[in-house]
Amino acid sequence: MALCLGIESSCDETAAAVVADGRVIRSSVIASQADLHRVYGGVVPEVASRRHIELILPVVDRALSEASTKIDEVDCIAATYGPGLVGSLLVGLMFAKGLAFAKEIPFVGVNHIEGHVYANFLEHPDLEPPAVCLTVSGGHTEILEIKDFGEYVRLGMTRDDAAGECLDKVGRVLGLEYPAGPQIDRLAVNGDPDRYPLPRSMMDEETLDVSFSGLKTAALNLINSERQRGREVDVGDFSASLLEAVVDTLVDRCRRALLQTGAKRLMLSGGVAANRRLREKATELGESMGVSVYYPSLKLCTDNAAMIASAGAFRFMRGQTSSLALNASPGLRL
Ligand code: KG4
Ligand code: ZN
Repeated sequence: MALCLGIESSCDETAAAVVADGRVIRSSVIASQADLHRVYGGVVPEVASRRHIELILPVVDRALSEASTKIDEVDCIAATYGPGLVGSLLVGLMFAKGLAFAKEIPFVGVNHIEGHVYANFLEHPDLEPPAVCLTVSGGHTEILEIKDFGEYVRLGMTRDDAAGECLDKVGRVLGLEYPAGPQIDRLAVNGDPDRYPLPRSMMDEETLDVSFSGLKTAALNLINSERQRGREVDVGDFSASLLEAVVDTLVDRCRRALLQTGAKRLMLSGGVAANRRLREKATELGESMGVSVYYPSLKLCTDNAAMIASAGAFRFMRGQTSSLALNASPGLRL
């Protein structure tokens, strides 16, 4: 059995987890900094890295004790080395490398986006590639072909804003707290998705890329013009209309990716994969195409270290480890 300690600190969650054989979560500790950044309406990088420094040791300690294990029993240590905020990444990465060096434990650097994909392999113990995976979060929107463990082809990505970023930024102008995504999810349930006309991204082109900056600008302009006319914007209806535009675009790209690859499995991952409308419409798409649709439980959608430990363990079990000279890579691609 391979026991992997995973560490994640790419944005505003300080997280550590212990995972067995890449599939079984022994512990998963997440210290969110969301409350700290809420007053600023978004993550402040300097504040985030300082908080990671305070939290990293107690979080790793707790992950080990909740897994009823000790560092000497760990077979590999995995940490996110990109993409993300450089100051935040460095805290978890340097901590992991220092621990690996001191204890002579193999170290594995993990791409954060790859981690999100593996949340599905944790949630569904029998799930195997090949598959198409839509990874959507506050920082990334990628459509990947998962040919095998560790073998990916990026089919499409956002040309500008990430899906979660678009929801968070428009949500802020609607008066919602950061991060707005989960609130938009709840508000949209009773809202009218046809009330506010909003554009869908590049539906006529063949591309698998998406773009959300046009939608964001159109949404912000609409809110401003309603307010200038003295009309109140209905937050529920607006949330539903905005979400529908985002989900329509994402599900359309999943459809194109499934057609192009012939894959029979579709996986959703990342914070926005927690969204109930996206899950619902992806499931409908799967039913119409004879494709099985998978997504992680809510806790595994948003940033966590179990997914990093899982991706790291799969690499370790294939004999792939990283040099202790590995640097943080804020713009890392998969
Ligand atoms: O994966 P994640 O925790 O961090 C990044 O890697 O970015 O994703 C956070 C993003 C935020 O933009 C947040 O608003 C969005 O995921 N999000 C949601 C939901 N839960 C989180 N968006 C829509 N519906 C949700 N239920
Ligand atoms: Zn993430």
